[in-house]
Amino acid sequence: MNQAELHRYLVSKAPKKNNEQQLKDYFDLRLATNLSLIKSLFFSLYDEKEAVDQFYVLIDKLEDLYQQRSLELKQQDVERLKEGNWYQSEKMVGMQLYVDRFNQNLNGLNKKLPYFEDLGINFLHLMPVTTRPSGENDGGYAVNSYHEIDPKYGTKKEFIALTKNARKKGIFLMLDFVVNHTSDEFEWAKKAKAGDSKYQGYYYTYPTRHIPDEFEKTLPEIFPQSAPGNFTYVKEMEKWVMTCFNNYQWDLNYRNPEVFLEMLANLMSLANLGVDVIRFDALAFLWKKLGTQSQNLPEAHALISLFRMCLQVIAPGVILLAEAIVAPRNILKYFGEDMLEGNECEIAYNASLMALLWNSIATKQASLMYKSLTEVPIKPKDATWINYIRCHDDIGLGYDDDFIAAMGWDPRSHKEFLLNYYCGKLAWSPAKGLMFMYNPKNGDGRITGSAASLLGLETALEQNNKNIIDYAIAKILMMHGIILTIGGIPMIYAGDEIGTLNDYSFKQHVDLANDNRWVNRPMQDWTIISGLNKNPDHPSTLIYNGLKKMIRIRKDHTVFQDTNDLKIYGCPNPHIFVFKRINGNQNVWILSNFNEVTEKLDIGWLNSIGIHTGKNTIDLLTELPFKLINNELPLKPFQQLWVKSS
Ligand code: GLC
Repeated sequence: MNQAELHRYLVSKAPKKNNEQQLKDYFDLRLATNLSLIKSLFFSLYDEKEAVDQFYVLIDKLEDLYQQRSLELKQQDVERLKEGNWYQSEKMVGMQLYVDRFNQNLNGLNKKLPYFEDLGINFLHLMPVTTRPSGENDGGYAVNSYHEIDPKYGTKKEFIALTKNARKKGIFLMLDFVVNHTSDEFEWAKKAKAGDSKYQGYYYTYPTRHIPDEFEKTLPEIFPQSAPGNFTYVKEMEKWVMTCFNNYQWDLNYRNPEVFLEMLANLMSLANLGVDVIRFDALAFLWKKLGTQSQNLPEAHALISLFRMCLQVIAPGVILLAEAIVAPRNILKYFGEDMLEGNECEIAYNASLMALLWNSIATKQASLMYKSLTEVPIKPKDATWINYIRCHDDIGLGYDDDFIAAMGWDPRSHKEFLLNYYCGKLAWSPAKGLMFMYNPKNGDGRITGSAASLLGLETALEQNNKNIIDYAIAKILMMHGIILTIGGIPMIYAGDEIGTLNDYSFKQHVDLANDNRWVNRPMQDWTIISGLNKNPDHPSTLIYNGLKKMIRIRKDHTVFQDTNDLKIYGCPNPHIFVFKRINGNQNVWILSNFNEVTEKLDIGWLNSIGIHTGKNTIDLLTELPFKLINNELPLKPFQQLWVKSS
C-alpha cells in the first residue's frame, strides 16, 4: 500500500464539513502519517549529526507552508483525495502550449478556454510563465523566479483569474517546476557571483578544473553542439559552475539540505498558484556523483520521494509528473519502486511509446513497438502515463539496442536510417524535420519538427499531391488515435490539432537561432481556426474534426480509463499494431496500419484474439460493422479501427 492510498483511506474518515479547524486537524493527521517516512528519506540523504537542525526547520516549514495555502485550495485537496485516481479517467485529454505563442498572454489564453472545450481538452500544460533572462532563456526553463509571473504574460492576479476560470470549467492545469537548475540571474546565482560563499554552496562551484575534469569523464552532454561540456567558468566569482544544460542554467546542489528546504518553499509557491499537476522538469539529473553519469541515481529517487511526501502533507490534492526522458526501464522507477512504490510521481511521460511510434512510421512496421512495449514490466496500478506523439522538445531515439538487434537491425545504422528518414536525407521520405544536436563521435542525434511536417503534410502540400496529403492526414489521426486509446492522458501539442507545419522563423531570431526545437513551437494560427467550418475539405478541418470526434468517443467510453488493462498482440501482419482495452465486460481493439498500402488480417486470427464478426461488432470511429473480403479484414493505408465487440 502506498502513502496515497493510505491518505485516501484517512480522508474517507475525515469530517464532511470543511472548516479551517477541521482541515488543520486533517493536516496534523497527514503529518503524523508521513513524518517517519520523511525523516528516513531526509537522513538517507543528509548526515544525521550535521543536518538535524535543518530537519527540525523542515517540520516547522511544513506547517508554515500549509498555512500559506488558500482555504479554497485546501478544500479542493480534500475533494481530490475523495475522487481517487482522477488522473486515470477517460475524461482527461491534454494540450501543451506556450502562452505567448498560443494567444499572446494569460488574458488571451483565458479568452480561449471555449476553444479547448470545443475540442474536448480539459487539461492544459502551460510552458513556463515566470520571469527569466531577457536574452536566451530556453523558453523560460532558465528561471529567474519560481513565482513572479513574467510581465510579458501578465500579472499574478491574471494568472489566478485564469486558474479560477479553468477550475470552474473543469479544466486542470499543469505547470513546470524547474527543479534541477536556476538561471544565472536567479537571486542565489547573483549572490554567488558577488562572492557570497553561502550561495556558492547552493550550486556545484569549483575554484579549479580538478573536480570538473573528473566529472567530465563520465557525464554525458545534453546539448553537445550549443553547450558542450558540463561546466561554465564564471568570471565574477572566478569559479567553475556545473551547467549540464545551457551555460546560463546552473545546476542546484541538493547535497546541501538548505537547497532542499528553499526549493520546497518554491515548489509550494507554484502549487499555491492553483495548479493541479506539477511537472518535475529534468528530474533524472537531481543528484550528481563523481564517477557516474549522474542520472537516475538512487539519491535522486530519494529526493523526489522526499518532495512528494512533503507535498502530500501540505497539499495532498496536487500530483507530480516525471519528466524523465530516459531508458524505458528507468522511466518506471519514477513511479517509485520497492519501499518507495507509488511514493514518487503519479504520472510520467511515455517517452518509450513516443519514440517507438516514430520508428513505426519510418519503418512502416509495428514489430519493434510490440516487442519493446511487451517486454518492459507494467507500471504500478495507481500510476498513469502522459501519452504524446511529440512535445515542445526534440524526439530522442531512445530504443533498447537489444530489441533493435532482435529485429535483425544494426543499432547504429538503424539510428542513422531514422535520422536520414526524418531529416531530409532520403529522397523518398515525405518527412520534413531537422537534426538536433548531432554528435559525430557516436552518431547520436535527435529530431525536431511539428507532427504534421514529420508526417509528410509539408512535403505533400508543396508537391500539391492529393494522395500524400490524404496519407499525411491519416497518419496524423492514426498517431493521435493511439495516444488517445492506449491508456493514460493523451497530450496534444497546440497546433498539431490543425496540422500546423514547421515554423522556420526561429532562424532569424538571435535568441532562438541556436536551438532548432523552436521549429516545432509554432504560433497558434487563429486565421486557420476561424476558417475551419467554412472549408470542410481543408486538411486543418479534417484533422481538427477527426481529432474532436476521437476525443468525444474516448470520453464516452469508460473502457479508455487507465486501469492497467492493456493487452498488446504480436500481430501476424508486421505492419499492423493491435492492442485491446478492457473494462469489465467491455472490450475495444485498436488496429492501426502503418503501411502505405492496404494490409489484411485473417479472420481466423481475429477470432483467436476475440474479435468476431456480426452486427454487434462495430468500428466506433465510423459506427459501421466492419466488412470482410474473402475472410480477411482489409485496412487501408494508415487506417485505424476502434473495434467494439459485445
Ligand atoms: C526539460 C525541458 C526542456 C529544457 C530542459 C532544461 O527537458 O522539457 O525544454 O530545455 O528541461 O530545463
